[in-house]
Amino acid sequence: MSPLTRRQLLVLGAAGAGATAAGGAGLWLTTGNGSGYTGGEDLAEPQELASRDRVLELDLTAAPARVRVGGREASVHTFNGSLPGPTLRARAGDTIRVAMRNGLQAPTNLHVHGLHVSPQGNSDNPFVSIDPGGSFDYEFALPEDHPPGTYWYHPHRHGHVAGQVAAGLYGAIVVEDPDPVPVARDRVMVVSDLSLDATGNLAEVDQMQQMMGREGQIVLVNGQLRPQLRAAPGERERWRIINACPSRYLRLTLEGQGVRLLSRGLGRLPIPEEVTEVVLAPGNRVELLVETRQGVSALTAAPVDRGGVNAMMGGAMRGGSVSGGDPVDLLTLAVSGSAGSDPGPVPEGQPLRDLRNEPATAVRTLDFAMGMSGSMGGGMGGGMGGGQGAMMAFTINGREFDPERLDETVAAGTVEEWTLANSSPMDHPIHLHVWPMQIVQDGDRDVTEPKWQDVVNVPARSQVKVRVAFDDFAGRTVIHCHILDHEDQGMMATVQAR
Ligand code: C2O
Ligand code: CU
Ligand code: CU
Repeated sequence: MSPLTRRQLLVLGAAGAGATAAGGAGLWLTTGNGSGYTGGEDLAEPQELASRDRVLELDLTAAPARVRVGGREASVHTFNGSLPGPTLRARAGDTIRVAMRNGLQAPTNLHVHGLHVSPQGNSDNPFVSIDPGGSFDYEFALPEDHPPGTYWYHPHRHGHVAGQVAAGLYGAIVVEDPDPVPVARDRVMVVSDLSLDATGNLAEVDQMQQMMGREGQIVLVNGQLRPQLRAAPGERERWRIINACPSRYLRLTLEGQGVRLLSRGLGRLPIPEEVTEVVLAPGNRVELLVETRQGVSALTAAPVDRGGVNAMMGGAMRGGSVSGGDPVDLLTLAVSGSAGSDPGPVPEGQPLRDLRNEPATAVRTLDFAMGMSGSMGGGMGGGMGGGQGAMMAFTINGREFDPERLDETVAAGTVEEWTLANSSPMDHPIHLHVWPMQIVQDGDRDVTEPKWQDVVNVPARSQVKVRVAFDDFAGRTVIHCHILDHEDQGMMATVQAR
């Protein structure tokens, strides 16, 4: 997008860009967030492609497609014609080969989010750009000790990421457990949000929405609006939930059912923990064990206050915060009938590595900021008198993304401690490619359990300390905000291991 000038900000504020938080007018589902549609289709799962003889080979084409969403035709972008794209199932030690074709009108590429694979060459290289009509052969070699878990893929061409993901380009990746967890059903649930106009085309996104991080008007699970699941009481299911929304956070609850957290995406917890809610920032995944109980329950996403720019603008901007909205029902689970058979015990998972017991060879701080460019460090205030030419910037350590620049250089094989500092009035979910992060301090609170994630939420005006082991691979990759509009607008830096 073109950067926002202060004048545009004020105009947007006066006009009210409320569509970010709530349903705007003239939309596809004019009764608001799809309330005219009753849902009730059975949950469909994307096609599954599994590795054979340690290899998974597939063609993946990103292109416009017509799909049915909420009972109506919609024009979106998909991988291989389906929303979401196919689910890839592999094991540690496997190789995934993807012949990727770009049928879009803009450049694109492919990223395997969360996989611990090389960032170089034709592996998980975010600097690749595939022109419209072009193709590229990717090869991702998973190490023999790759953690099991739920990962995902999506385009990562800088400047186009939010738009392409919002349009429908995403799919799940499952790395199977070495010790299977006995369940009646293993379900993949890709949660996304989507905004369509009255004719079923992708809605335009304005600059305010891009600044806040766009939130789609309807929230889908596997491309479906409020689908339904059925189970018998006393069954155990495994739900692999992926937040593929470009900016929306999901505070999930499933009342009336027994819910335990099995995984935060990568690896699994040694012993599943009972939970009443889980919060997924964009890019995050969880695996839940659902122990079914008689009755009908909704999986509900409650709104999450992730801050806004209102405070920066002296409260002048309507639409300048994203804390509103009502809870959204994502799906319903109907449990009835005679009791299912006892699934048996859950095998204990591998103990998690704890980098607090390992020496950190370097510490560094990354400051995530929003402000008027030309007045970095002073926040927006310093640029307020500037008039034309004053622009909104999203920066890390005062700089916008430059793919040619080396920002952080680390020694391969070492452990580092990074402070992720957020000086802005919005939360930023920070994501590092290739190497997962262990959260050791969240604000003032020490995190006592080994807690691993590849997207770590850093609340507004707060900081989070993580440790990273730069194991196994050398090469250059990126760290960025997973509010994909922020990433596209510059909140991304390069990280090189050598
Ligand atoms: Cu899911 Cu660099 O992104
Ligand atoms: Cu990623
Ligand atoms: Cu951000």
